[in-house]
Amino acid sequence: MPEHDQQARHEPIRIITVCLGNICRSPMAESVLRHRIAEAGMSDFVSVESAGTAGWHAGGDADARARATLGRFGYSLDHRARQFNADWFEEIDLILAMDRSNYDDLLELAASTGADTTRVHLFRSFDPQAAHDEVPDPYYGGDGGFVEVLRMVEAASDGVVDHLRNQAAQHQ
Ligand code: 4NP
Repeated sequence: MPEHDQQARHEPIRIITVCLGNICRSPMAESVLRHRIAEAGMSDFVSVESAGTAGWHAGGDADARARATLGRFGYSLDHRARQFNADWFEEIDLILAMDRSNYDDLLELAASTGADTTRVHLFRSFDPQAAHDEVPDPYYGGDGGFVEVLRMVEAASDGVVDHLRNQAAQHQ
């Protein structure tokens, strides 16, 4: 069902952010997007979660650098890493991949189960100012990469909130 119909019917919209390990980028995106949705007064009808295409870190907390960067800029997160489940292609309304590799892995998973992929998007495609469409993997780099990721996910989150607002406004 399109998101605007759900808002009109007061059914909760589910959003998931997806990266590889679900310990760096997608938990940061989850936290920031949830904060932005709360600031926009939309928490009652939009929920945000995250997952990784790989299950290596399932059950674990977010990377210490991701947690430190979130905390430093005023965001909170209570996290347990999870692997993306193919059932969610039908259940979740917006599936937001951090980079093209995550996006391709999601499409491959969908192809293996015959799931609909129209809800899968690159997260940064919601940022009209973005110089490119990927949130790069900061895992093997220094702390500075995590601040860069935060700035990217803040801008993309603003774009997602604008998108939700536009969808709601079109159907009032
Ligand atoms: P993420 O980063 O996909 O942003 O959570 C990574 C986390 C772990 C690994 C790679 C990327 N890893 O190879 O374990």
